[in-house]
Amino acid sequence: MIALTLATPFAHIQYEHWRHHYIFAPSGVYGKEAMVVSAHRLASDVGRDVLAAGGNAFDAAVAVNFVLAVVYQQAGNIGGGGFMVYRLHNGTTGALDFREIAPQAAHRDMFLDESGAVIKGKSLRGALAVGVPGSVAGMAALHKRFGSGEWAALIAPSIKLARDGFVLTDKAARMFNRYQQDFIAVNRSALSVVKNTGWESGQTIRFPALANTLERIAIHGRDDFYIGETSHLLVAEMKAANGLITQEDLAQYKVVWRTPIRIAYRGYDIITMPPPSSGGVALSQLLQGIEPYAVSDMRHNSTQHIHLMTELERRAYADRATYLGDPDFVFVPTNRLTAPDYVRQRIRDIDSDKATDSRTIKEGNVERVESVETTHFSIVDKQGNAVSITTTLNGNFGSKLAVQGGGFFLNNEMDDFAIAQGHANQFGLLGNEQNAIAPAKRMLSSMTPTIIEKDGALRGVIGTPGGATIITSVFQTLLNLIDFEMSAAQAVYARKSHSQWQPDVIMMERGTLSLFNMRGLQGRGHKLYPHPHFAYSLGRVEAIWIDDTGTLEGAADVSRGFDDAAAGF
Ligand code: GLY
Repeated sequence: MIALTLATPFAHIQYEHWRHHYIFAPSGVYGKEAMVVSAHRLASDVGRDVLAAGGNAFDAAVAVNFVLAVVYQQAGNIGGGGFMVYRLHNGTTGALDFREIAPQAAHRDMFLDESGAVIKGKSLRGALAVGVPGSVAGMAALHKRFGSGEWAALIAPSIKLARDGFVLTDKAARMFNRYQQDFIAVNRSALSVVKNTGWESGQTIRFPALANTLERIAIHGRDDFYIGETSHLLVAEMKAANGLITQEDLAQYKVVWRTPIRIAYRGYDIITMPPPSSGGVALSQLLQGIEPYAVSDMRHNSTQHIHLMTELERRAYADRATYLGDPDFVFVPTNRLTAPDYVRQRIRDIDSDKATDSRTIKEGNVERVESVETTHFSIVDKQGNAVSITTTLNGNFGSKLAVQGGGFFLNNEMDDFAIAQGHANQFGLLGNEQNAIAPAKRMLSSMTPTIIEKDGALRGVIGTPGGATIITSVFQTLLNLIDFEMSAAQAVYARKSHSQWQPDVIMMERGTLSLFNMRGLQGRGHKLYPHPHFAYSLGRVEAIWIDDTGTLEGAADVSRGFDDAAAGF
């Protein structure tokens, strides 16, 4: 196994260098049998240990998810929700939807004032922003159906880390410090993450209340969270903070097993998440749309390459805004949107020399019968089972509201609904009636956990955080792996761009474009937007790629000093 070495004072400079010249990307971690890639070294190591001890990928997923809820609290969670796409060693595939739902008391206009204007921040901070969490139900459901290890034993590592504490990395300390004022403003009592003098790397941090919650979940399973003591604490928090979630909301929460979207692309099969994620539909349109073009003949991130991707992306995101929502509430024309003849007709007006003005792009003509933080982990076990999970609180630390006595943060996923017609959410995404708020409805997501197979064999597991940019990061990582034949590490580190129809700009990581390409794109009429937020990284892809010899390469994106890690054997 080749470890990723980070311990040089100039590491960040090297990463920037690697990201710019992707062929010099740091090496991935190699294994012959099993691999875990997640947002934190402690979580990846726990997952690898579960696999080494004979647990399967689903056991490891449970362990990793709960460890992330302790050591990576800005996105790892028990107070949020997510999606899993899986592939069993026998080729069976499926998807699990444990997305949050709107509380029963939620209503379409709950974030508007009397004049119909959006009340700033209300869907993002505090109790009203919180959707009914699905993560604990999701973990319990996947363990019940596929797990082989004992539930309590899989949660034990997270309890130990929460109770005994763990050493803060520089990034983790900075994340807690950045949100101190929000934690104080939103919560009625001091949280254990609030520290007047600020946190420093190397300090040990403990979460006794969270340890108690995890212990109860270990003993009582999902019941603790939905009808037991944790549910009572959560409802008490809602009452105290004027939130909407009731005991009944929690008791009625259900996960949904769904059929994944399958996309044929250049001899590979891409298995990905259906609605209420928009990811699978958009990815299908993007991959089908680009397949007629000889991408491998283009220079990576050349004017031609970025122009083409942008033109496809603006069309896919226009459809996203119009047609996608919770399929259990509104009709989502998934089959039509992903039909080859529809995609062919949709790309017909792409001009290879000229950008389309997004104002002139409307959704395609489909008959209608009806954070920036999230985290992803990829797992492959010795038997060849694969799990791809993206899970989220939405923003960093979600609503910033923590359950008193429960010790965990609650999501702010209500902002993923279209809270008003034509109003952009925190990711700038537009939506309409399809994604309007309704009781028990799931808010539209961009999370795109994805699995890749070829000739009936598993070839890869990928996914990423990044809000609206998730879809384009997964798309470009797939092109990097398949068309540009990059290694997993190269594909993860290669510079990425992003366009989402509205706003009508191309966002890009610093160093994506040479001056020559910049001029080339501007000459075609594109507006470039090197927004500071995107200056360093679009997405943080956690990838596993399996080569022709069966060797697994795990690649985690550690640029910007993040703690992501691959661990395998
Ligand atoms: N909260 C981000 C997403 O679900 O797309």
